[in-house]
Amino acid sequence: MAKRFLLILPLLSTILLLAVTAAESNSYSKTTPFQEYKPEKLTHLHFYFHDVTSGDKPTAIRVTNPPVSNTTAVSTFGVVVIADNLLTEGPDPSSKEIGRAQGLYASTDMNTVSLTMVFNLVFTEGEFNGSTVSMYGRNPIFSKLREFPIIGGTGEFRLARGYAQAQTYSLSGFDAVVEYNVFISH
Ligand SMILES: *[C@@H]1O[C@H](CO)[C@@H](O)[C@H](O)[C@H]1NC(C)=O
Ligand SMILES: *[C@@H]1O[C@H](CO)[C@@H](O)[C@H](O)[C@H]1NC(C)=O
Repeated sequence: MAKRFLLILPLLSTILLLAVTAAESNSYSKTTPFQEYKPEKLTHLHFYFHDVTSGDKPTAIRVTNPPVSNTTAVSTFGVVVIADNLLTEGPDPSSKEIGRAQGLYASTDMNTVSLTMVFNLVFTEGEFNGSTVSMYGRNPIFSKLREFPIIGGTGEFRLARGYAQAQTYSLSGFDAVVEYNVFISH
């Protein structure tokens, strides 16, 4: 008797599982195991970010003029810059354009120059043309390697999460070329 019951057990659990699966779907919602909906991939992107604040064609424009305050050691505290910066394959701005970084950065640390970065990386080349990823994080610009979370995406990058690593490649005045390595699970 016990033996026969043991044989039936796997069958029972299968029926139970089917019942649970069916219960996850109703008229207003449907839940699918994630890997069935979208198998995940990891994409590594490598490019250069051109922050041009000077000259006759700046792509990063300061939009605030904060009052001088005695409470901050950092004179730029409160500065907000809106940018539509070029992203290229190589460090030379005339190398192949792969997209734009559209968003803003703000000086948000009272004691050291550190920026809060809020950017959409808009890709215009290859299989990711038309797709975007959203990047948000803290940027202590004088640290050698900075890291920002990737918090979402669209198109090929739907449901993206990951991280971006940024390293200053060259600096001339307030203009910077920054090398990016971005790792995206999507
Ligand atoms: C900064 O502190 C000095 C000396 O205490 C004071 O005279 C000045 O008004 C303060 N400036 C601001 C912007 O608060
Ligand atoms: C990217 O997509 C746009 C819109 O579909 C298209 O006009 C453009 O030619 C594409 N660019 C490349 C480099 O494929």
